[in-house]
Amino acid sequence: MRPQRIRIVEMGARDGLQNEPTVSLADRIALIDALSQTGLAQIEAASFVSPKWVPQMAHADQLFAQIQRQPGVCYSALTPNLQGFEAARAAGVDEVAVFGAASETFSQRNINCSVAESLQRFEPVMDAARQAGMRVRGYVSCTLGCPYEGTIAPAKVADAAQALHEMGCYEISLGDTIGTGTPDRAVAMLEAVASRVPIPALALHFHDTYGQALANIAACLELGVATIDASVAGLGGCPYAPGASGNLATEDLIYLLDGLGLSHGVDLDALIQAGATICQRLGRPNGSKVALARLSQ
Ligand code: HMG
Ligand code: MG
Repeated sequence: MRPQRIRIVEMGARDGLQNEPTVSLADRIALIDALSQTGLAQIEAASFVSPKWVPQMAHADQLFAQIQRQPGVCYSALTPNLQGFEAARAAGVDEVAVFGAASETFSQRNINCSVAESLQRFEPVMDAARQAGMRVRGYVSCTLGCPYEGTIAPAKVADAAQALHEMGCYEISLGDTIGTGTPDRAVAMLEAVASRVPIPALALHFHDTYGQALANIAACLELGVATIDASVAGLGGCPYAPGASGNLATEDLIYLLDGLGLSHGVDLDALIQAGATICQRLGRPNGSKVALARLSQ
């Protein structure tokens, strides 16, 4: 059941930088350009959201105009509504993502509407993307716990994932937004979702707040999931999930995949350099254990 090849979706420039106190446009662009040289095939580069809500992601249009795009790399962005989609399309984004939640309270805090209202807002995005021939990814947040509601039932996660899939999202990324999951619960949640959405259309997006993301991903790989979101140097968190830290560090994921003999196409040394450079620019510690070990050798 374990897949032989893993597709990594790199989150550092979006999920990673959206939670930094301040980050310059130049540093965001430099990170994306460095990541583009590592063999990563998909880089989530920015969000077309309200700059009042997430100022760190402002000027996404300028970012897309200035990055050095590499052939074969898909540069994607978050678009919560039609306004965001139209701006993303004008900026030349390759792929967009809508983001919903399995928790009502998180949905309200993050995108200012209920789960049901969010699905209504996504419909015109799906229609416009279909007309433009663009793929749409869907996120479900709070799949293993909510900062406001606590435990979330796997059936609720499955409902949200199924709704996004039926709406036309080619892939559903399952977010452990606050990183509280443990392997047995992660597998149970994934099994509940997989009974409604086929495994090839599912991705894992696990934050590492409690240090469980690698264990959770290793367990879920056994069910055949082949797409994993990760963030260089473990950068990140969500502004509307207080205390949450970044996604699993991409460097640590790659070390695991190498150990399991699964291919991924990423140059670990180049990635470690990209992570070290952005950490230095931000003046923050590197959240990748593998990077720290390699850099100290
Ligand atoms: P709202 O206030 O309900 O929106 O916010 P509105 O439609 O009433 O518009 C209000 C103002 O926002 C207007 O401007 C609009 O023009 C503007 P004003 O007239 O006041 O000057 N606006 C926009 N501006 C730019 N781009 C847009 C846009 N839409 C409206 N697309 C909204 C609703 C969704 C916009 C807001 O709540 C928002 O931007 N939220 C973003 C939250 C966010 O980015 N969170 C982090 C990403 S999600 C995440 O990290 C989780 C994930 O990683 C998975 C996981 O880990 O679980 C994906
Ligand atoms: Mg996230």
